[in-house]
Amino acid sequence: MQETIKNRTIFCKDNLDILEGINTETIDLVYLDPPFNKKKVFTAPIGTSAEGASFKDIFTEADLKEEWVQEIREDWPNVYELLNAVKNIEGRSSYNFCYLAYMAIRLIQCRRILKNTGSFYYHCDPTMSHYIKLLLDCIFGEKKFKNEIVWHYETGGIPIKDFSRKHDYILRYSKGKEYIFNSKDILEERSEEVLRRIATGNETATRSKGQYRHPSDVFKIPAINAMARERVGYPTQKPLALLERIIKASSNEGDVVLDPFCGCATTCVAAERLSRRWIGIDISVKAYELVQERISNMYEIRQGKLEEGELSKIYFSTTAPTRTDDGANAKDQKYVYIISHPQYEGEYKVGIASDVKSRLSSYQTSDPNRDYKLEYKQLTEHYRALERHIHNQFDSRQEWVRAEMQEIINAMKSYRP
Ligand SMILES: C[S@@+](CC[C@H](N)C(=O)[O-])C[C@H]1O[C@@H](n2cnc3c(N)ncnc32)[C@H](O)[C@@H]1O
Repeated sequence: MQETIKNRTIFCKDNLDILEGINTETIDLVYLDPPFNKKKVFTAPIGTSAEGASFKDIFTEADLKEEWVQEIREDWPNVYELLNAVKNIEGRSSYNFCYLAYMAIRLIQCRRILKNTGSFYYHCDPTMSHYIKLLLDCIFGEKKFKNEIVWHYETGGIPIKDFSRKHDYILRYSKGKEYIFNSKDILEERSEEVLRRIATGNETATRSKGQYRHPSDVFKIPAINAMARERVGYPTQKPLALLERIIKASSNEGDVVLDPFCGCATTCVAAERLSRRWIGIDISVKAYELVQERISNMYEIRQGKLEEGELSKIYFSTTAPTRTDDGANAKDQKYVYIISHPQYEGEYKVGIASDVKSRLSSYQTSDPNRDYKLEYKQLTEHYRALERHIHNQFDSRQEWVRAEMQEIINAMKSYRP
Protein backbone atom coordinates (compact mmCIF):
# COMPACT_ATOMS: atom_id res chain seq x y z
CA MET A 1 0.00 0.00 0.00
CA GLN A 2 1.31 3.49 -0.79
CA GLU A 3 2.94 5.25 2.17
CA THR A 4 0.50 8.16 2.09
CA ILE A 5 -2.39 5.85 2.98
CA LYS A 6 -2.21 4.23 6.37
CA ASN A 7 -3.67 0.87 7.22
CA ARG A 8 -7.02 1.26 9.08
CA THR A 9 -8.10 4.49 7.42
CA ILE A 10 -11.71 5.60 7.04
CA PHE A 11 -12.13 8.35 4.46
CA CYS A 12 -15.23 10.53 4.62
CA LYS A 13 -15.65 11.89 1.08
CA ASP A 14 -17.02 10.96 -2.32
CA ASN A 15 -15.22 7.71 -3.09
CA LEU A 16 -14.29 8.85 -6.62
CA ASP A 17 -11.91 11.46 -5.17
CA ILE A 18 -10.30 8.88 -2.91
CA LEU A 19 -10.10 6.10 -5.52
CA GLU A 20 -8.39 8.48 -7.96
CA GLY A 21 -5.71 9.12 -5.34
CA ILE A 22 -4.84 5.43 -4.81
CA ASN A 23 -1.87 3.98 -6.69
CA THR A 24 -2.43 1.44 -9.44
CA GLU A 25 -2.35 -2.27 -8.48
CA THR A 26 -2.09 -1.82 -4.72
CA ILE A 27 -5.31 -3.43 -3.41
CA ASP A 28 -5.97 -7.16 -2.98
CA LEU A 29 -9.73 -7.20 -2.52
CA VAL A 30 -12.51 -4.72 -3.27
CA TYR A 31 -15.98 -5.39 -1.89
CA LEU A 32 -18.71 -2.84 -2.50
CA ASP A 33 -22.28 -2.61 -1.38
CA PRO A 34 -23.38 0.63 -3.02
CA PRO A 35 -26.90 2.01 -3.29
CA PHE A 36 -29.00 -0.48 -5.30
CA ASN A 37 -30.94 2.13 -7.34
CA LYS A 38 -34.16 1.49 -5.42
CA LYS A 39 -35.32 5.04 -6.23
CA LYS A 40 -35.88 5.95 -2.57
CA VAL A 41 -34.03 7.39 0.43
CA PHE A 42 -32.84 5.04 3.19
CA THR A 43 -33.03 6.35 6.75
CA ALA A 44 -31.88 4.80 10.03
CA PRO A 45 -34.60 4.07 12.62
CA ILE A 46 -35.06 6.57 15.48
CA GLY A 47 -33.52 5.41 18.75
CA THR A 48 -30.64 3.44 17.19
CA SER A 49 -27.06 4.67 17.37
CA ALA A 50 -27.33 5.29 13.64
CA GLU A 51 -30.24 7.73 14.04
CA GLY A 52 -29.81 10.60 11.59
CA ALA A 53 -27.99 8.45 9.05
CA SER A 54 -29.51 8.35 5.60
CA PHE A 55 -28.46 7.92 2.03
CA LYS A 56 -30.06 8.70 -1.27
CA ASP A 57 -30.71 5.82 -3.63
CA ILE A 58 -32.07 7.77 -6.62
CA PHE A 59 -29.78 8.80 -9.45
CA THR A 60 -30.56 11.58 -11.95
CA GLU A 61 -28.62 13.69 -14.47
CA ALA A 62 -27.84 16.07 -11.59
CA ASP A 63 -25.63 13.35 -10.04
CA LEU A 64 -23.49 13.04 -13.17
CA LYS A 65 -20.65 15.18 -14.40
CA GLU A 66 -20.24 15.80 -18.09
CA GLU A 67 -16.52 14.96 -17.82
CA TRP A 68 -17.27 11.42 -16.52
CA VAL A 69 -19.35 10.56 -19.55
CA GLN A 70 -16.70 12.12 -21.78
CA GLU A 71 -13.95 10.08 -20.12
CA ILE A 72 -15.98 6.90 -20.57
CA ARG A 73 -16.61 7.75 -24.23
CA GLU A 74 -12.89 8.31 -24.82
CA ASP A 75 -11.38 5.44 -22.86
CA TRP A 76 -14.12 2.81 -22.52
CA PRO A 77 -16.12 2.88 -25.77
CA ASN A 78 -17.77 -0.47 -24.99
CA VAL A 79 -19.03 0.90 -21.66
CA TYR A 80 -20.20 4.03 -23.47
CA GLU A 81 -22.15 1.96 -25.96
CA LEU A 82 -23.75 -0.05 -23.18
CA LEU A 83 -24.78 3.14 -21.35
CA ASN A 84 -26.27 4.56 -24.53
CA ALA A 85 -28.19 1.34 -25.13
CA VAL A 86 -29.65 1.60 -21.61
CA LYS A 87 -30.58 5.22 -22.25
CA ASN A 88 -32.34 4.27 -25.46
CA ILE A 89 -34.27 1.49 -23.75
CA GLU A 90 -35.40 3.80 -20.98
CA GLY A 91 -36.49 6.71 -23.13
CA ARG A 92 -37.22 9.90 -21.20
CA SER A 93 -36.63 8.72 -17.65
CA SER A 94 -32.95 7.87 -17.41
CA TYR A 95 -32.60 6.66 -13.83
CA ASN A 96 -30.86 3.43 -14.81
CA PHE A 97 -28.50 5.20 -17.21
CA CYS A 98 -27.60 7.74 -14.51
CA TYR A 99 -27.05 5.04 -11.90
CA LEU A 100 -24.86 2.98 -14.22
CA ALA A 101 -22.81 5.95 -15.43
CA TYR A 102 -22.31 7.08 -11.79
CA MET A 103 -21.10 3.60 -10.90
CA ALA A 104 -19.08 2.99 -14.08
CA ILE A 105 -16.64 5.82 -13.50
CA ARG A 106 -15.99 4.48 -9.97
CA LEU A 107 -15.75 0.83 -11.05
CA ILE A 108 -13.11 1.73 -13.64
CA GLN A 109 -11.02 3.13 -10.77
CA CYS A 110 -11.69 0.03 -8.63
CA ARG A 111 -10.32 -2.15 -11.38
CA ARG A 112 -7.24 0.05 -11.84
CA ILE A 113 -6.24 -0.07 -8.18
CA LEU A 114 -6.68 -3.84 -7.85
CA LYS A 115 -3.52 -5.94 -7.99
CA ASN A 116 -3.34 -8.37 -10.91
CA THR A 117 -4.10 -11.17 -8.46
CA GLY A 118 -6.92 -9.15 -6.87
CA SER A 119 -10.62 -9.95 -6.53
CA PHE A 120 -13.71 -7.82 -6.83
CA TYR A 121 -17.19 -8.34 -5.29
CA TYR A 122 -20.19 -6.17 -6.21
CA HIS A 123 -23.17 -6.57 -3.86
CA CYS A 124 -26.51 -5.81 -5.53
CA ASP A 125 -30.02 -7.15 -5.86
CA PRO A 126 -32.37 -8.01 -8.73
CA THR A 127 -33.19 -4.30 -9.26
CA MET A 128 -30.01 -3.77 -11.28
CA SER A 129 -28.01 -7.02 -11.19
CA HIS A 130 -28.66 -7.80 -14.88
CA TYR A 131 -27.36 -4.38 -15.97
CA ILE A 132 -24.44 -4.46 -13.55
CA LYS A 133 -23.33 -7.83 -14.90
CA LEU A 134 -23.11 -6.33 -18.40
CA LEU A 135 -21.27 -3.29 -17.09
CA LEU A 136 -18.75 -5.39 -15.18
CA ASP A 137 -18.26 -7.68 -18.19
CA CYS A 138 -17.31 -4.55 -20.19
CA ILE A 139 -14.90 -3.31 -17.50
CA PHE A 140 -13.30 -6.54 -16.26
CA GLY A 141 -13.88 -8.73 -19.31
CA GLU A 142 -16.39 -11.55 -19.59
CA LYS A 143 -13.73 -14.17 -18.84
CA LYS A 144 -12.95 -12.58 -15.49
CA PHE A 145 -16.47 -13.21 -14.23
CA LYS A 146 -16.21 -15.94 -11.58
CA ASN A 147 -19.46 -16.30 -9.65
CA GLU A 148 -22.91 -14.96 -9.18
CA ILE A 149 -23.22 -15.51 -5.44
CA VAL A 150 -26.72 -15.72 -4.03
CA TRP A 151 -26.92 -14.44 -0.48
CA HIS A 152 -30.04 -16.17 0.87
CA TYR A 153 -31.68 -14.83 4.02
CA GLU A 154 -35.01 -15.30 5.78
CA THR A 155 -35.99 -11.73 6.70
CA GLY A 156 -38.11 -9.37 4.58
CA GLY A 157 -41.73 -8.65 3.84
CA ILE A 158 -44.43 -10.91 2.44
CA PRO A 159 -45.91 -9.50 -0.77
CA ILE A 160 -49.52 -10.53 -1.43
CA LYS A 161 -49.22 -11.25 -5.14
CA ASP A 162 -45.52 -12.09 -5.56
CA PHE A 163 -43.02 -14.63 -4.29
CA SER A 164 -41.22 -13.14 -1.31
CA ARG A 165 -37.72 -11.90 -2.02
CA LYS A 166 -35.11 -13.75 -0.03
CA HIS A 167 -31.82 -13.08 -1.75
CA ASP A 168 -29.25 -10.54 -2.91
CA TYR A 169 -26.64 -11.11 -5.59
CA ILE A 170 -22.91 -10.64 -5.20
CA LEU A 171 -21.07 -10.60 -8.54
CA ARG A 172 -17.50 -11.82 -8.24
CA TYR A 173 -14.71 -11.01 -10.75
CA SER A 174 -10.96 -11.47 -10.79
CA LYS A 175 -8.66 -8.89 -12.30
CA GLY A 176 -6.24 -11.35 -13.87
CA LYS A 177 -5.94 -15.04 -14.68
CA GLU A 178 -4.30 -15.85 -11.34
CA TYR A 179 -6.26 -15.00 -8.22
CA ILE A 180 -6.63 -16.06 -4.60
CA PHE A 181 -9.35 -18.52 -3.67
CA ASN A 182 -8.96 -20.13 -0.25
CA SER A 183 -11.70 -22.74 -0.55
CA LYS A 184 -10.30 -24.69 2.43
CA ASP A 185 -10.94 -21.76 4.76
CA ILE A 186 -14.64 -21.60 3.92
CA LEU A 187 -15.69 -25.23 3.56
CA GLU A 188 -19.38 -25.86 4.14
CA GLU A 189 -20.72 -28.31 6.65
CA ARG A 190 -22.84 -31.04 5.09
CA SER A 191 -26.31 -31.45 6.50
CA GLU A 192 -26.93 -34.40 8.82
CA GLU A 193 -29.23 -35.89 6.19
CA VAL A 194 -26.45 -35.89 3.56
CA LEU A 195 -23.93 -37.30 6.07
CA ARG A 196 -26.35 -40.11 6.85
CA ARG A 197 -26.77 -40.87 3.14
CA ILE A 198 -22.97 -40.90 2.66
CA ALA A 199 -22.55 -43.20 5.70
CA THR A 200 -25.08 -45.64 4.35
CA GLY A 201 -23.41 -45.64 0.93
CA ASN A 202 -26.40 -43.99 -0.77
CA GLU A 203 -24.40 -40.91 -1.80
CA THR A 204 -20.76 -40.39 -2.73
CA ALA A 205 -18.89 -37.50 -1.12
CA THR A 206 -17.37 -35.40 -3.89
CA ARG A 207 -14.20 -33.25 -3.71
CA SER A 208 -13.70 -32.83 0.04
CA LYS A 209 -14.59 -35.94 1.94
CA GLY A 210 -16.42 -36.33 5.22
CA GLN A 211 -18.24 -33.69 7.16
CA TYR A 212 -17.35 -30.76 4.89
CA ARG A 213 -17.82 -29.97 1.22
CA HIS A 214 -16.48 -27.44 -1.29
CA PRO A 215 -18.16 -24.02 -0.81
CA SER A 216 -21.11 -23.31 -3.09
CA ASP A 217 -22.30 -20.03 -4.61
CA VAL A 218 -25.30 -19.93 -2.28
CA PHE A 219 -24.49 -18.29 1.05
CA LYS A 220 -27.12 -19.05 3.69
CA ILE A 221 -26.31 -16.39 6.24
CA PRO A 222 -28.96 -14.69 8.40
CA ALA A 223 -29.53 -10.99 7.71
CA ILE A 224 -29.18 -8.66 10.67
CA ASN A 225 -32.42 -8.76 12.65
CA ALA A 226 -33.70 -6.28 15.22
CA MET A 227 -32.13 -8.24 18.09
CA ALA A 228 -28.75 -8.98 16.51
CA ARG A 229 -25.82 -8.08 18.77
CA GLU A 230 -23.84 -6.51 15.98
CA ARG A 231 -26.73 -4.31 14.83
CA VAL A 232 -26.01 -0.57 14.94
CA GLY A 233 -29.15 0.39 13.04
CA TYR A 234 -27.33 1.69 9.95
CA PRO A 235 -29.68 1.29 6.99
CA THR A 236 -28.76 -1.79 4.93
CA GLN A 237 -26.05 -2.91 7.39
CA LYS A 238 -24.64 -6.27 6.25
CA PRO A 239 -23.75 -9.16 8.59
CA LEU A 240 -20.14 -9.64 9.63
CA ALA A 241 -20.39 -13.35 8.77
CA LEU A 242 -21.06 -12.48 5.11
CA LEU A 243 -18.03 -10.22 4.88
CA GLU A 244 -15.82 -12.66 6.75
CA ARG A 245 -16.68 -15.37 4.24
CA ILE A 246 -15.75 -13.14 1.30
CA ILE A 247 -12.55 -11.87 2.91
CA LYS A 248 -11.41 -15.37 3.89
CA ALA A 249 -12.12 -16.67 0.38
CA SER A 250 -10.28 -13.96 -1.54
CA SER A 251 -7.45 -12.62 0.61
CA ASN A 252 -4.70 -13.70 2.96
CA GLU A 253 -3.52 -12.25 6.27
CA GLY A 254 -1.87 -8.87 5.76
CA ASP A 255 -3.58 -8.24 2.40
CA VAL A 256 -5.33 -4.94 1.73
CA VAL A 257 -9.14 -4.91 1.65
CA LEU A 258 -11.03 -1.86 0.40
CA ASP A 259 -14.73 -0.98 0.69
CA PRO A 260 -15.56 2.24 -1.20
CA PHE A 261 -19.19 2.39 0.08
CA CYS A 262 -18.45 1.18 3.59
CA GLY A 263 -21.54 2.47 5.48
CA CYS A 264 -21.00 1.56 9.14
CA ALA A 265 -17.75 -0.21 8.21
CA THR A 266 -18.81 -3.85 8.39
CA THR A 267 -16.10 -4.77 5.88
CA CYS A 268 -13.46 -2.93 7.92
CA VAL A 269 -14.46 -4.65 11.16
CA ALA A 270 -14.46 -8.06 9.44
CA ALA A 271 -11.06 -7.36 7.86
CA GLU A 272 -9.68 -6.33 11.25
CA ARG A 273 -10.91 -9.52 12.86
CA LEU A 274 -9.17 -11.54 10.15
CA SER A 275 -5.84 -9.63 10.40
CA ARG A 276 -6.14 -8.01 6.99
CA ARG A 277 -5.19 -4.39 6.35
CA TRP A 278 -8.15 -2.20 5.35
CA ILE A 279 -9.44 1.08 3.93
CA GLY A 280 -13.08 2.21 4.14
CA ILE A 281 -14.74 5.12 2.34
CA ASP A 282 -18.17 6.69 2.85
CA ILE A 283 -19.58 10.03 1.79
CA SER A 284 -21.95 10.32 4.74
CA VAL A 285 -20.74 12.19 7.80
CA LYS A 286 -23.12 10.15 9.93
CA ALA A 287 -21.56 6.94 8.66
CA TYR A 288 -18.19 8.40 9.58
CA GLU A 289 -19.27 9.27 13.14
CA LEU A 290 -20.89 5.89 13.55
CA VAL A 291 -17.79 4.12 12.35
CA GLN A 292 -15.69 5.90 14.97
CA GLU A 293 -18.13 4.77 17.62
CA ARG A 294 -18.49 1.24 16.25
CA ILE A 295 -14.81 0.69 15.77
CA SER A 296 -13.99 2.03 19.19
CA ASN A 297 -16.75 0.22 21.06
CA MET A 298 -17.78 -2.87 19.24
CA TYR A 299 -17.13 -6.19 20.82
CA GLU A 300 -15.93 -7.56 17.49
CA ILE A 301 -12.77 -5.51 17.71
CA ARG A 302 -11.92 -6.72 21.19
CA GLN A 303 -12.35 -10.27 20.06
CA GLY A 304 -10.04 -9.57 17.17
CA LYS A 305 -6.33 -8.90 17.17
CA LEU A 306 -6.59 -5.16 17.81
CA GLU A 307 -6.30 -4.50 21.54
CA GLU A 308 -8.03 -1.50 23.07
CA GLY A 309 -4.75 0.33 23.55
CA GLU A 310 -4.21 0.18 19.81
CA LEU A 311 -7.48 1.89 18.91
CA SER A 312 -5.61 5.13 18.28
CA LYS A 313 -4.18 3.36 15.23
CA ILE A 314 -7.42 3.92 13.35
CA TYR A 315 -7.26 6.97 11.10
CA PHE A 316 -10.10 9.19 9.94
CA SER A 317 -9.55 11.50 7.01
CA THR A 318 -11.56 13.91 4.89
CA THR A 319 -8.67 14.61 2.52
CA ALA A 320 -8.08 12.64 -0.67
CA PRO A 321 -4.67 10.96 -0.96
CA THR A 322 -2.27 11.82 -3.78
CA ARG A 323 -0.99 9.13 -6.08
CA THR A 324 2.75 8.54 -5.83
CA ASP A 325 3.14 6.08 -8.71
CA ASP A 326 4.30 6.82 -12.25
CA GLY A 327 0.82 7.11 -13.68
CA ALA A 328 -0.10 9.85 -11.21
CA ASN A 329 -0.13 12.55 -13.88
CA ALA A 330 -1.42 10.37 -16.67
CA LYS A 331 -4.83 11.99 -16.35
CA ASP A 332 -3.44 15.32 -17.53
CA GLN A 333 -2.41 13.95 -20.91
CA LYS A 334 -4.13 11.86 -23.56
CA TYR A 335 -3.51 10.85 -27.13
CA VAL A 336 -5.30 12.37 -30.07
CA TYR A 337 -5.22 9.59 -32.63
CA ILE A 338 -5.94 9.08 -36.31
CA ILE A 339 -7.17 5.69 -37.40
CA SER A 340 -8.30 4.43 -40.77
CA HIS A 341 -10.92 1.93 -41.87
CA PRO A 342 -10.32 -0.32 -44.89
CA GLN A 343 -13.72 0.47 -46.39
CA TYR A 344 -13.75 4.24 -46.00
CA GLU A 345 -10.86 5.50 -48.04
CA GLY A 346 -10.08 9.17 -47.50
CA GLU A 347 -11.89 9.25 -44.15
CA TYR A 348 -10.18 9.02 -40.79
CA LYS A 349 -11.45 8.64 -37.29
CA VAL A 350 -9.90 11.35 -35.11
CA GLY A 351 -10.52 10.82 -31.42
CA ILE A 352 -9.06 10.84 -27.91
CA ALA A 353 -7.86 7.96 -25.72
CA SER A 354 -5.50 7.31 -22.81
CA ASP A 355 -4.61 3.92 -24.19
CA VAL A 356 -4.82 3.89 -27.96
CA LYS A 357 -4.04 0.19 -28.23
CA SER A 358 -7.02 -0.87 -26.16
CA ARG A 359 -9.19 1.73 -27.89
CA LEU A 360 -8.19 0.29 -31.26
CA SER A 361 -8.87 -3.27 -30.19
CA SER A 362 -12.38 -2.30 -29.12
CA TYR A 363 -13.09 -1.45 -32.78
CA GLN A 364 -11.79 -4.74 -34.07
CA THR A 365 -14.05 -7.74 -34.31
CA SER A 366 -13.54 -11.10 -35.96
CA ASP A 367 -14.90 -9.45 -39.12
CA PRO A 368 -11.83 -8.79 -41.37
CA ASN A 369 -13.69 -5.86 -42.96
CA ARG A 370 -13.39 -3.98 -39.69
CA ASP A 371 -9.60 -4.04 -39.75
CA TYR A 372 -8.94 -0.53 -38.39
CA LYS A 373 -5.36 0.75 -38.48
CA LEU A 374 -3.69 3.22 -36.15
CA GLU A 375 -2.09 5.83 -38.43
CA TYR A 376 -0.82 8.46 -36.01
CA LYS A 377 -1.04 9.52 -32.36
CA GLN A 378 0.00 12.65 -30.50
CA LEU A 379 0.24 12.91 -26.71
CA THR A 380 -0.90 16.30 -25.46
CA GLU A 381 -2.46 18.00 -22.44
CA HIS A 382 -4.66 19.99 -24.88
CA TYR A 383 -6.25 16.83 -26.26
CA ARG A 384 -9.85 18.06 -26.27
CA ALA A 385 -8.98 21.39 -27.87
CA LEU A 386 -6.82 19.63 -30.47
CA GLU A 387 -9.53 17.12 -31.34
CA ARG A 388 -12.07 19.95 -31.72
CA HIS A 389 -9.62 21.94 -33.85
CA ILE A 390 -9.17 19.06 -36.30
CA HIS A 391 -12.89 18.42 -36.54
CA ASN A 392 -13.58 22.13 -37.18
CA GLN A 393 -10.77 22.49 -39.69
CA PHE A 394 -11.87 19.67 -41.99
CA ASP A 395 -15.07 18.30 -43.40
CA SER A 396 -16.22 15.95 -40.65
CA ARG A 397 -19.16 13.87 -39.50
CA GLN A 398 -19.17 12.72 -35.91
CA GLU A 399 -15.72 11.25 -35.25
CA TRP A 400 -14.87 10.91 -38.95
CA VAL A 401 -12.74 13.46 -40.82
CA ARG A 402 -12.56 13.63 -44.62
CA ALA A 403 -9.07 14.77 -45.76
CA GLU A 404 -5.64 13.55 -46.80
CA MET A 405 -4.03 11.80 -43.84
CA GLN A 406 -0.84 13.87 -44.10
CA GLU A 407 -2.91 17.06 -44.02
CA ILE A 408 -4.48 15.98 -40.75
CA ILE A 409 -1.10 15.02 -39.27
CA ASN A 410 0.36 18.40 -40.29
CA ALA A 411 -2.59 20.21 -38.76
CA MET A 412 -2.12 18.28 -35.52
CA LYS A 413 1.61 18.92 -35.38
CA SER A 414 1.29 22.64 -36.05
CA TYR A 415 -1.60 23.20 -33.63
CA ARG A 416 -0.88 25.79 -30.91
CA PRO A 417 -3.52 26.17 -28.18
C1 LIG B 1 -25.82 0.11 1.18
S1 LIG B 1 -24.91 1.23 2.14
C2 LIG B 1 -23.52 0.29 2.66
C3 LIG B 1 -23.78 -0.51 3.91
C4 LIG B 1 -22.57 -1.27 4.40
N1 LIG B 1 -22.27 -2.40 3.58
C5 LIG B 1 -22.74 -1.70 5.84
O1 LIG B 1 -22.73 -2.91 6.13
O2 LIG B 1 -22.91 -0.82 6.69
C6 LIG B 1 -24.26 2.28 0.90
C7 LIG B 1 -23.38 3.40 1.43
O3 LIG B 1 -22.79 4.06 0.32
C8 LIG B 1 -22.57 5.42 0.71
N2 LIG B 1 -22.33 6.19 -0.51
C9 LIG B 1 -23.21 6.52 -1.49
N3 LIG B 1 -22.58 7.20 -2.48
C10 LIG B 1 -21.27 7.30 -2.11
C11 LIG B 1 -20.12 7.87 -2.71
N4 LIG B 1 -20.17 8.47 -3.92
N5 LIG B 1 -18.94 7.80 -2.06
C12 LIG B 1 -18.85 7.17 -0.85
N6 LIG B 1 -19.91 6.61 -0.24
C13 LIG B 1 -21.11 6.66 -0.86
C14 LIG B 1 -23.82 5.78 1.50
O4 LIG B 1 -23.57 6.87 2.38
C15 LIG B 1 -24.09 4.48 2.25
O5 LIG B 1 -23.50 4.50 3.53
